[in-house]
Amino acid sequence: MGADAFKRYGELKLSKVVFITGAAKRIGATIARTFHRQGFKVIIHYNRSTTQARALVDELNSNKADSAAALRADLTDRDATMDMAKKVVGIYGRVDVLVNNASSFYPTKIGEIEQQTWDDLIDSNLRSAFFISQQLAGELKSRQGAIVNIVDTHSDRPLQGFPTYSIAKAGLKAMTKSLAIELAPQVRVNGVSPGAILWPPSLENDQDPDVLERRKDTLARIPLARLGRKEDIAEAVFYFATEAKYITGYTLKVDGGRSLI
Ligand SMILES: NC(=O)c1ccc[n+]([C@@H]2O[C@H](COP(=O)([O-])OP(=O)(O)OC[C@H]3O[C@@H](n4cnc5c(N)ncnc54)[C@H](OP(=O)(O)O)[C@@H]3O)[C@@H](O)[C@H]2O)c1
Repeated sequence: MGADAFKRYGELKLSKVVFITGAAKRIGATIARTFHRQGFKVIIHYNRSTTQARALVDELNSNKADSAAALRADLTDRDATMDMAKKVVGIYGRVDVLVNNASSFYPTKIGEIEQQTWDDLIDSNLRSAFFISQQLAGELKSRQGAIVNIVDTHSDRPLQGFPTYSIAKAGLKAMTKSLAIELAPQVRVNGVSPGAILWPPSLENDQDPDVLERRKDTLARIPLARLGRKEDIAEAVFYFATEAKYITGYTLKVDGGRSLI
C-alpha cells in the first residue's frame, strides 16, 4: 500500500458518521450530501424510495470509496425500526450525529381520523424518532455527538386541516427539549423548523391555474418572498450538529419570516 493510499485509509477510518432518516431524496438527500461534502460518512435510511437511495449511495461512494450506506425500514413497523436502529453503529463502527428527518404529511379531518392514520403520522414523525434516538443515545454519548430533529413551523402554529401532523411535529419539538436535558452534557439535541421549502404534492402541478393562484397566496405570506432552498435547511442542520457547541434544546425556524405574520 503506497503512502497516499495509507493516508486515505486512515482518513476514512477516522471519519465521523451521520445517520439520517428519510434521506433518499428531497431535503434528506441534501442533508446527506452536505455532511458528505464536509468529510462525514453517511448512512441513509429509506423506506419506499429504493431506487433513489441506491443512486444516492452510489453517487456518494463514487466521490469517496466506502463512505455511504443505506438501511431500509418502514418506521410504522416497530420491530423493523428497532432492528434497523440496532444495525446503524455496526456499519462504520461509530455514529456521531443522528438526524431525524423522515416524515409523512397529509391532511386529516376531525371526526373521521382512524387509529391507523393516527399511528401512521405519529409513528413516522415522532415515535420512531424517539426510539431511534434512545437506541443510539449510548453511542452518541460516547462520541460527544448530536441529534438534530427536523420539525416544522407548524409545530407552533398548527396547519389547518392537518391536526395529526401538527400534533406529531409539536411532540417532536417537545422531544427536542426533553432529550436535550436527558442526554446532557454529552449529547446536544436541537431542531430545525422549515417553513415552505418544497411545494407539497397538492401544489406540484404548475400547469394548473388554481395551483398557481394558491402558490401566489403562499408566497405573499412569506416576507422573504420565496420558498426556502433545501440547502438552507441542510446548512442549519450541519451548524447544529458540528458548530453550535453551546446550544441545546433549541429549535430554529428557517422560514423566510413566514411565522412572523
Ligand atoms: N418540504 C417542506 O417544504 C417542509 C416544510 C416543513 C417541514 N418539513 C419537514 O422537513 C423534513 C423533510 O421534508 P421533505 O419534504 O423532504 O420530506 P418528505 O419527502 O415528505 O419525506 C421524507 C421521507 O420520509 C420517509 N418516510 C415517510 N413515512 C415513512 C415511514 N412510514 N417509514 C419510513 N420512512 C418514511 C420517506 O421515505 P421513502 O421515500 O424512502 O419511503 C420520505 O422520502 C420532514 O421532516 C418534513 O416534515 C418540510
